[in-house]
Amino acid sequence: MASVKVAVRVRPINQREINLGSTCIISTEGKKTSITNLKIPAHPGEGEAALGRERVKTFTYDYSYWSVNQSDPQYASQEKVFNDLGQDVLKSAFEGYNACIFAYGQTGSGKSYTMMGEPSCKGLIPRICEGLFSRIKKDDDGISCRTEVSYLEIYCERVRDLLRPSTQYTLRVREHPRDGPYVQDLSKHLVSDYQDVHVLMDKGNTQRTTASTMMNDTSSRSHAIFTITFTQAKFHDDMPSETISKINLVDLAGSERADATGATGDRLKEGANINKSLVTLGNVISALADMSSMVNHSPVSTTNKRKSMVFIPYRDSVLTWLLKDSLGGNSKTIMVASKYHARESLA
Ligand SMILES: Nc1ncnc2c1ncn2[C@@H]1O[C@H](COP(=O)(O)OP(=O)(O)OP(=O)(O)O)[C@@H](O)[C@H]1O
Ligand SMILES: [Mg+2]
Repeated sequence: MASVKVAVRVRPINQREINLGSTCIISTEGKKTSITNLKIPAHPGEGEAALGRERVKTFTYDYSYWSVNQSDPQYASQEKVFNDLGQDVLKSAFEGYNACIFAYGQTGSGKSYTMMGEPSCKGLIPRICEGLFSRIKKDDDGISCRTEVSYLEIYCERVRDLLRPSTQYTLRVREHPRDGPYVQDLSKHLVSDYQDVHVLMDKGNTQRTTASTMMNDTSSRSHAIFTITFTQAKFHDDMPSETISKINLVDLAGSERADATGATGDRLKEGANINKSLVTLGNVISALADMSSMVNHSPVSTTNKRKSMVFIPYRDSVLTWLLKDSLGGNSKTIMVASKYHARESLA
């Protein structure tokens, strides 16, 4: 049931953008997001319009969220985003599938706000955990559930545990013959209610921010993965059976770092590594999309043969290698692209 959904979310304008006299260039309507190219004149005449370039381009996504002003009737709150995307992920987990949500976008575009949120305005990760426990309580029909969480950070292709005090980026990624890629020695924490998760999330977020201050805003240069491993055990015809689902919630590095132009030394290396992860992620997702369109358009007899013809480059970055089980196969993938809705005035 491999499936990829894409959502776009536009955040409010901030003081810096107001001070710069920024102009609003993005709008949403239903599933559509439109972007205006201010370099093309509004009233076509001579010039670039004559080259056939469109001033306004419109794209259709699974969801287009307008989170700019609360007074707008189409305002998308944290709750709305959770009801659409988070509930979908929870449903998959209870059905035994893996699921993954990525937040993609430039620095300051709202990735962490969507994933983690703020104490008064929780994001997807806390809401998914709350939803998981409230459903476990409600569904108590002979199934016993076990929930474990881990939280890691990838920086320059190296991995660090965010739930152990002051660890270094030294963890190794290995592959288990049956269970696939994993991080050796990554701590896994058994949690029995939301309060347990809350404590761990806080701890991990503090580790991430401490490092970011010391290393001058690492947050936007590292990828953070919060993983929930959810196991349902029950008796089926008197035989014990277990279903394990993994939910990976990923706050990606700022996408503009992918463009390392002008950078030198460590910055260049950093940009190149982020580039590698984000480019590989794009390649993996597009290979999966090719595969699913081939499968959908092939007779059943050739489906498996065609599937094996598509090469998915999971191993090209630590990020995609670790998320291999959550991308493709029995999994649901959601990408939320965060957007500035304004850009600096051309004047
Ligand atoms: N939907 C939203 N509603 C209200 N405020 C938002 C929203 N999205 C983002 N913000 C605010 O915008 C600022 C930047 O957001 P955030 O920290 O989530 O960006 P980011 O993409 O994670 O940046 P970085 O790449 O640097 O980590 C924060 O102050 C956040 O509170
Ligand atoms: Mg962030």
